[in-house]
Amino acid sequence: MNLILLGAPGAGKGTQAEVICKALNIPTISTGNMLRAAVKAGTEYGLKAKAAMDAGALVSDDIVIGILKDRIAEPDAQNGFILDGFPRTVPQAEALDAMGVTIDKVVEINVPDETIKQRLSGRRVCLDCGATYHVDFKPSKVEGICDVCGKELVIRKDDQPETVISRLKTYHEQTAPLKHYYSAQGKLVTVEGQESVEETSKLTLAAING
Ligand code: AP5
Ligand code: MG
Repeated sequence: MNLILLGAPGAGKGTQAEVICKALNIPTISTGNMLRAAVKAGTEYGLKAKAAMDAGALVSDDIVIGILKDRIAEPDAQNGFILDGFPRTVPQAEALDAMGVTIDKVVEINVPDETIKQRLSGRRVCLDCGATYHVDFKPSKVEGICDVCGKELVIRKDDQPETVISRLKTYHEQTAPLKHYYSAQGKLVTVEGQESVEETSKLTLAAING
């Protein structure tokens, strides 16, 4: 099963990817997590990506398509994968089609912008393993420490309120057109994001299995 999770920044793509990954035993491929790891490691493409990420803009299609192509060629991705944060532009979706990848379903998680602003102000992430928490809605067992790997939790640099506004604008202008792209292919299913992570997971898994 090859899945795409579509949704605005903070809609809950990463959170639901963790659940689907366990339920279906397929890896999550998050271009955001891969780019953050590259920035942290100071690699060549990390250095190129950093300015766009800090500004809440998109990294160039060339860079992201290259990263994605290499990642889906790895052995663990051969029985299926969950794409979190890719594609994000119509040219990225076209590149995926051109790679000969068959996408089974595109699950859109729909959450109003105002809810997103609240959620991102309380998000904490583990930069080591990518796990995501929220101070009120999904707290870690020990404050400030990742349940999965025991590393320190941090606030993402692009979660400052003004950067969140830029990211939402980027989403509506450049990524939302993908809803039309995939509904025309008969692959789009929309899940209304709920107030709890668990309720959203139930709807997301039902949408995938339905
Ligand atoms: P990326 O890392 O993909 O960020 P994003 O799309 O902005 O999405 P987020 O990770 O912020 O949100 P999410 O939907 O995963 O929500 P989460 O589950 O954390 O990309 C970052 C940057 O990298 C981009 O801006 C761009 O520069 C670059 N980039 C990445 N991919 C690219 C591409 N393909 N092309 C070009 N550039 C690219 O949830 C948010 C919070 O809410 C958490 O605290 C969570 O605990 C909480 N929460 C989740 N669900 C619920 C719920 N139902 N109820 C209550 N709280 C909830
Ligand atoms: Mg995410």
